[in-house]
Amino acid sequence: MEEQKITKVLVSEEVVRQTVARLGGEITEYYQGIQRELMVIGLLRGSFIFMADLVRQIKLPLVVDFMTVSSYGDGTISSGDVKVVMDLDSSIEGRDVLMVEDIVDTGRTFSKVIRMMRNRNPRSLKICTFLNKPEARLVPISIDFCGVNIPNEFAVGYGLDYAQGYRHLPYVGVLKPD
Ligand code: PRP
Repeated sequence: MEEQKITKVLVSEEVVRQTVARLGGEITEYYQGIQRELMVIGLLRGSFIFMADLVRQIKLPLVVDFMTVSSYGDGTISSGDVKVVMDLDSSIEGRDVLMVEDIVDTGRTFSKVIRMMRNRNPRSLKICTFLNKPEARLVPISIDFCGVNIPNEFAVGYGLDYAQGYRHLPYVGVLKPD
């Protein structure tokens, strides 16, 4: 069983639920009176579970879109360069955009993606992450809606993977070393 390989729980199901509800409330309040639908954009694959839960807690008209980016470089650590594997379906020009991530770790992925998004001239661009690892940050990122700060440990579950596994765990945990 995959769950037997989890050594500790970092974010329980209950805290996941409370955090998503809080973020949904903050986002709803922030965008009150928005003129067009909010565009909520998830980065695949990690954000898919959080995104699905989060949008159900945002009490505003919204549309969703997804983008897949991949880091490339030496293959072991992210080089900070990202390439777009699957782009958005729609233009964000002139739109209010909320970018959604499962985790901001070094900040390299999001910093590149945000720069790319800004070049597309949205009306506004805000950032929401479920998990934040401040100790791992290499590139500063200003997070507008932040879920839970976690220590610098390898987290899996609630969208986060190890070798593509564990994403479906309904909580966030740390893997036992092999
Ligand atoms: C993970 C996560 C973020 C990124 C965060 O994605 O979803 O996109 O790493 O790390 P960083 O802040 O150090 O850049 P990953 O490349 O593992 O792909 P995934 O979304 O398919 O899990």
